[in-house]
Amino acid sequence: MQLRPATVDDIPAVLAFWKTSAEDTNRAGDDAAAVAALMARDPEALVLATDGEEIVGSLIAGFDGWRCHLYRFAVRPDRRRRGIGAALLAAAEERFRAFGAGRADAMVLGDNVLAHRAWAASGYAAQPEWRRWVKRL
Ligand SMILES: CC(C)(COP(=O)(O)OP(=O)(O)OC[C@H]1O[C@@H](n2cnc3c(N)ncnc32)[C@H](O)[C@@H]1OP(=O)(O)O)[C@@H](O)C(=O)NCCC(=O)NCCS
Repeated sequence: MQLRPATVDDIPAVLAFWKTSAEDTNRAGDDAAAVAALMARDPEALVLATDGEEIVGSLIAGFDGWRCHLYRFAVRPDRRRRGIGAALLAAAEERFRAFGAGRADAMVLGDNVLAHRAWAASGYAAQPEWRRWVKRL
């Protein structure tokens, strides 16, 4: 397993990977243009775990100059529980530290208990006093 930033050539495979491996409730549809825009803004934000040509994990590690946000934390179902998720989070945190950032966060569905365990294992904790406020643009 290797970790590397995704490139534009990976976009179709990334979209296919998310369909089979990412949490998919309550999520706006992903498309190639949106992923390309992310790469144009921050070419190293989307980190992939790969095994040869195959994508086995993903994590978007975005830094907006103020805070660090994590998205699309996913590992292929048949590769879970082998440390890939933890390795992706460690790589993201290393990237964030290099920016001098002090805190990372993620949006996690309240009933995604599997994800809660993985986030908690890497040191993340829920802040129940906060709610996400959203407006569609
Ligand atoms: C969440 C997810 C990315 C974790 O990836 P992973 O590669 O399986 O995670 P790891 O193997 O690195 O696990 C790290 C730790 O998390 C905890 N953990 C992960 N999966 C667990 C499970 N099924 N049961 C209990 N603990 C679990 C364990 O503490 C584990 O350490 P250990 O194996 O040494 O006990 C993966 O389960 C996934 O893709 N889930 C579906 C998508 C999703 O819901 N993503 C989160 C969106 S917020």
